[in-house]
Amino acid sequence: MNHPSTISSKLPKNGQSIFSIMSGLANEHDAINLSQGFPDFNPDERLTKLVTEGMRKGFNQYAPMPGMMELREVIADKTYELYGIDYSAPDEVTVVPGATYGIFAAISSVIKEDDEVILFEPAYDCYVPAIELNGGKPIRVELKFPNFNIDWAEVAKLITFRTKMIIINTPHNPSGCVLGPEDLKQLAKLVHGSDIIILSDEVYEHIIFDNTRHESVAYYPELAERSFIVSSFGKTYHTTGWKMGYVLAPRNLTRELRKVHQFLAFSTSSPMQYAYAKMLKNPKTYNGLPQFYQEKRDYFAELVRGSRFELLPCSGSYFQLLKYDKISDEGDEDFAKRLTIEHKIASIPISVFYRNKTDNNVLRFCFAKSNETLEKAAEILCTI
Ligand SMILES: Cc1ncc(COP(=O)(O)O)c(C=O)c1O
Repeated sequence: MNHPSTISSKLPKNGQSIFSIMSGLANEHDAINLSQGFPDFNPDERLTKLVTEGMRKGFNQYAPMPGMMELREVIADKTYELYGIDYSAPDEVTVVPGATYGIFAAISSVIKEDDEVILFEPAYDCYVPAIELNGGKPIRVELKFPNFNIDWAEVAKLITFRTKMIIINTPHNPSGCVLGPEDLKQLAKLVHGSDIIILSDEVYEHIIFDNTRHESVAYYPELAERSFIVSSFGKTYHTTGWKMGYVLAPRNLTRELRKVHQFLAFSTSSPMQYAYAKMLKNPKTYNGLPQFYQEKRDYFAELVRGSRFELLPCSGSYFQLLKYDKISDEGDEDFAKRLTIEHKIASIPISVFYRNKTDNNVLRFCFAKSNETLEKAAEILCTI
């Protein structure tokens, strides 16, 4: 059935995402799927039991719009413990249905027609559509390959009177790189004295390796006072399908964020909030994550080392980049599709994270998988 009038798309350049395409292809060809970023193992049983407990105790109706107070209080406590900054649970912590939603709501709450938003490519795919749907203009800066670092002098040159927001993401998807203290200091210097808002995507805050400190903007008061910080319980508790996260922001930004949130979803699942609140009280449930994923990173790297793929450094997130220029000179999208169809292993080509499809012959593999899956995947990669 087709609507009779011609609809002028608000997102004319966006079709099916590469994640759906590659996962579809993986299913169709019965390939091992290291493309989409989600674990193939179950969350802690204590968490699933707590959800049932929440339902039995009657947490089945609308939760308060900004989130259950018990959960917001534990989020504020955890943030204070980790980053030494006080967020007010009533006024500065908002529970949202996933980080993607938090990012969309944050952008919608402050970006107006013709506002410019600086972001870094390769970029997670939800930033640009959210900017454009709100009439904003994405201003892209390429991270420097192969370390994916930021040239802050280049960023400084792009700041105009229209710059309303800068989006950062650390640990970074898709590169697995992280920002260091010097980056955050440069950022603070850049926005000093301006009204620029920071959107800091920190969904992998607990997936960082080699004893590196996660450089949250929360550590830097001059950044935190102008920032939305977005985190995801999906990443922290192996529950990406539950779609829940939170946004930290000073009260004036939170006020605007909640104006959007109350008309978009209004609130998020009650029994899951009940469960996360109890889990989050135990820091062991997230403090063990760096070691857990570092072991997976190292295991996968060791298995792949015998192949013709070149491993790029991975300091955080659950993505390993592999460079394949010694194997083929095909474009990364074609090569990724051929690997899925002919060799039965699915990944994500990195060029899709750039508007200009910058192609460095690199593929992204998700190692949030059981060791058995990683072994099967590496066995294939070693034959290519
Ligand atoms: C960098 C980044 N931001 C945000 C998200 C979205 O998180 P959520 O599943 O909580 O919406 C993801 C998920 O892959 C991500 O990698």
